[in-house]
Parts: sequence; C-alpha cells; structure tokens
Amino acid sequence: MKDILDRLEERRAEARLGGGDKRIDAQHKRGKLTARERIELLLDKGSFEELDMFVEHRSNDFGMEKTKVPGDGVVTGWGTINGRIVYLFSKDFTVFGGSLSETHAQKIIKVQDMAMKARAPIIGLFDAGGARIQEGVAALGGYGEVFRRNVMASGVIPQISVIMGPCAGGDVYSPAMTDFIFMVRDTSYMFVTGPDVVKTVTNEVVTAEELGGASVHTTKSGVADGSFENDVDCLLQMRRLMDFLPSNFEAGPPSWPTLDDIDAVDESLDTLIPDNPNKPYDIKELITKVVDEGDFFELSAAYAKNIVIGFGRVAGSTVGFVANQPMVLAGVLDSDASRKAARFVRFCDAFNIPIVTFVDVPGFLPGTDQEYGGLIKHGAKLLFAYSQCTVPLVTVITRKAFGGAYDVMASKHVGGDLNYAWPTAQIAVMGAKGAVEIIFRGGTPEQIAAQTKQYEDRFLSPFVAAERGYIDDVIMPHSTRRRIARALAMLKNKTAEMPRRKHDNLPV
Ligand code: HXC
Repeated sequence: MKDILDRLEERRAEARLGGGDKRIDAQHKRGKLTARERIELLLDKGSFEELDMFVEHRSNDFGMEKTKVPGDGVVTGWGTINGRIVYLFSKDFTVFGGSLSETHAQKIIKVQDMAMKARAPIIGLFDAGGARIQEGVAALGGYGEVFRRNVMASGVIPQISVIMGPCAGGDVYSPAMTDFIFMVRDTSYMFVTGPDVVKTVTNEVVTAEELGGASVHTTKSGVADGSFENDVDCLLQMRRLMDFLPSNFEAGPPSWPTLDDIDAVDESLDTLIPDNPNKPYDIKELITKVVDEGDFFELSAAYAKNIVIGFGRVAGSTVGFVANQPMVLAGVLDSDASRKAARFVRFCDAFNIPIVTFVDVPGFLPGTDQEYGGLIKHGAKLLFAYSQCTVPLVTVITRKAFGGAYDVMASKHVGGDLNYAWPTAQIAVMGAKGAVEIIFRGGTPEQIAAQTKQYEDRFLSPFVAAERGYIDDVIMPHSTRRRIARALAMLKNKTAEMPRRKHDNLPV
C-alpha cells in the first residue's frame, strides 16, 4: 500500500515540475512566476483543488510521442477568493510554451463547463504561444470549442483573462471574448501574430513590446482593461476585483461590511466645481468621496481618459461608476470614450450591477478625425447601452450636459431612474458662446454680449430641466453620497424588461 501511495506522490511531483527546473529558472529569470505559483497567490491559501493533473497529449507527429509532460501545459481546477468559489486555468509556459493541444483544450473546456454549471466566475491566466503547432487542426478545433464556450458563458458568469507572458493566436482571441483583460507590464504581450511572422509577411520590423505590450493595449488599442507592475501585484489586484463582482447574472452584487457612514456629509464637494466654468477639476475626487472607504477599482484608466469607469461600493454593495473627466479634453465624448463606457455599461447591466453616472460633458468631439472614425456608430453604442439597461440608473449632473451628450449620459429620457443635478449644472443644447453666434449671427459685439448673458441666465442652470421634471431634484454637492445611497436602496428591487425578441442589434 505504501508503495502505491508513494507512486501517487511521485506522479504528482512529476506533474508539478512541468517543463522542468531549467525552464522554471528561465521563467523566474524573466521576472515571471510559474503557473502554480500564480494560482497560490490568486486563491485563498490551501483552497486550490486541481483537476486533470495527469492528462497528457496524444500526438505522435514530429517526435511528440517522446515528449509527454503530465498536465500538458495547463493547470486547471477551482478554489476560493475571500471564500467565494472561482474556477481557473493557468497556462504553463514551461511546457511547449503553454501552447494548446487537443487534450490541453479538453482540460480548459472541462473547467469552463463546470463553472457554467456551478454559476461561478472563471479566471484564465495566460502565458502561451497559441495553437500547438505540431497538432495542427486538432489544436484549432480545441480553440473553437473554447471560444464557443466563452460566448455561451458571456453574460452568465464573469470571465476574466490575465495576460502574464507572450500570448499569440488563440491565446489572445479567447481573452478578447471575456469580460476583462489585464496585463503585466514588461513581461506580457498580446498579438494575433508575433514579430517574426509580422516581418515575414509585411517586412515590418517591430519589437514584441511595440507590437503588443501592456503600454500598447492599455493606451492605444484599448484591448486591455489595466496593467500591473508584476505578477504579484497583478494577482493581488485580481483578488480585489473579484470582491466587486457577482458570481453570476442572477446572484446580484456581493455585499461587504462597511464602517463608512452613508449619512455623513462632505463639505469639500461644495467647492469642487471651480468658479470659472472652463476650468477643469478631477471627477475622481467626487467618485472616491462617494464610494465606501474611498475604494474605487478603476478600469481602462490609461485609455480614453476623458471618461472614467470602474467599480466602487455604496453602503457595502457594488456599483458601476461612469463619469466624464473634465481634466482630459474637457470631458468630451469621442469614439474611444463612447466604446469604453458602452462596454462597461453592458457588463454592469448583464450582471445586475446598478450604475451611477456623473455628467460633465461639453458634447461630442467635432472634426473629420472623429467622423471618419465612425463617431456616429461609436457614440450610438453608449446611447444603446444605457437605453437597454434594466438595472438601477442614478445620474448626477455636476456641471455641463450639452447637446446629444446630455441625452446619452443616462438622462431621464433614455431610462435614468433618478436624475439629480448640482446647482452648478448647465443643461443646454450647447455653450452660450456657440449658441449666440448661431442664433444672433451678424450682431454687434454689444448685442452678442447681451444675448450671451441672457442665454446664460436662462439656460445655463439646472432649473429649466428641473421645471420639466427631467431632473428629479437639484441637490447639494455635500449630500451626494447620501442621496445616491438612498436612491440605490429605493431602487433595489427595480424590475424592468426589454420587449420580446431574439436579440437586439447593437451598432457594433
Ligand atoms: C508549440 C511552442 C509554441 C507553439 C512556443 N512553443 N509556441 N510549441 N506550439 N505555438 C515552444 C517553443 O518551441 C519553445 O520550446 C518554448 O515554447 C518557448 O518558446 P520560445 O519561442 O523560446 O519563447 P519566446 O522567445 O519567449 O517566444 C514566445 C512566443 C513564440 C512569442 C509565444 O514562441 C511564438 O511566436 N510562438 C508561436 C506563436 C504562434 O504563431 N502560434 C500559433 C498562433 S495560431 P522549447 O522546447 O525550446 O522550450 C493560433 C490559432 C488559433 O493560435 C485560432 C485563432 C483565431
């Protein structure tokens, strides 16, 4: 009996060694942790239950029958994060570069199916070179199965992808179909085809970092939702993120105890808006003063900075925040900002997370650059996303809400449940100068000045909208947290339904 037990331990030890000490050293020298070390950091201590650690590939081509490694380049299973169940797979770069074979795919598919049955989130830790080249179409078929399950799980359970090494092919397409992608700076890359293939096909010489490093995907392409300094920081932040997310679309947002009083007023908010309406201020100051313990998990912080999105908690429960950022491009809505916010609004709505929107927007960004880039369609995505929300929508206009952007940013007309304005709000078709130049074209400077003053007095306030009931109340800035908390509590059991149909046709 002892021999049998020893044999099990030996086989487990062999599997845990992955591609061997030499490759593990190489992994560490690159500043990366191994697949198993990552799991240890991500999950609660001792909670990991591994599955399929003895699975091997079945390929006999290109001498592959001589190199079989138990586990086949991916560690799969389940565990807990702060006591809540998550499923995961962690690619082992030390085994065939973490590439996906038929059996490797079957391991991932198994945890995807289990996560769906258990209605629990799934996290993928990626460090892998795509389809296992030696397996050809068997690997491609495996990816197809993984992709399809990504789509089936979308909107049912949260799916998170963490890019922790050089990832290519299927190892970027599967993440692209999940809810969030995070990267580790300087050690992770995402590209459909790597620098060597790029050179062969297009003659373009480019480094991995220039092609698909974290700096590219968090600032230029917007493919990744955030990046972190190293593996440890990244995995600890993933634990923090998971605490904000519901387990599935029916579970509702998780609730955590808070000592932060919702009745406390914050007088400093009364002076947040500068006297000069064209002077910027940091909308994140408002968000951090509204959320419990100032804890705000910002997403896509370095991309389309003119809009801020992320999770916070109010009275212990998760809320999605969308806010124009006057510090960047005066908070204008452009194509990137519209797409960024639209995707976030859809995530919140899919998982029943209420949305709080802070509005200070001078309109959509004019110009050929934006129009040629499809601003009409991209702006429509955000309008569409808000309009189809059934979750509670609470909106606070802090300053400008001009033109179409007023409608888009969770206005009453597109489904806002409670729409508040600060006394500093200005709700109009456009700013006074632009408006007067159009409707009083050709006037003398004195006439223009007089008309501008008249326009400002009449329209650049919250009261015209409040008189119509488009604004439910004009609130004191210092009581914003309390008013939002009360609004969300009142809306807790909100029910709303979209008309029956196969599915909508979002302007993608
Ligand atoms: C088999 C692979 C592999 C792969 C890497 N390896 N990628 N083995 N299939 N796809 C192996 C290498 O042979 C090597 O083995 C080890 O992993 C480490 O690879 P290196 O190249 O030495 O590492 P590095 O220099 O860091 O480069 C990593 C890399 C590069 C950028 C990922 O390996 C690469 O470009 N790989 C190919 C990427 C690719 O084109 N994949 C197919 C995509 S198509 P040893 O034994 O030396 O340690 C695809 C289809 C899906 O995925 C469909 C999408 C819609």
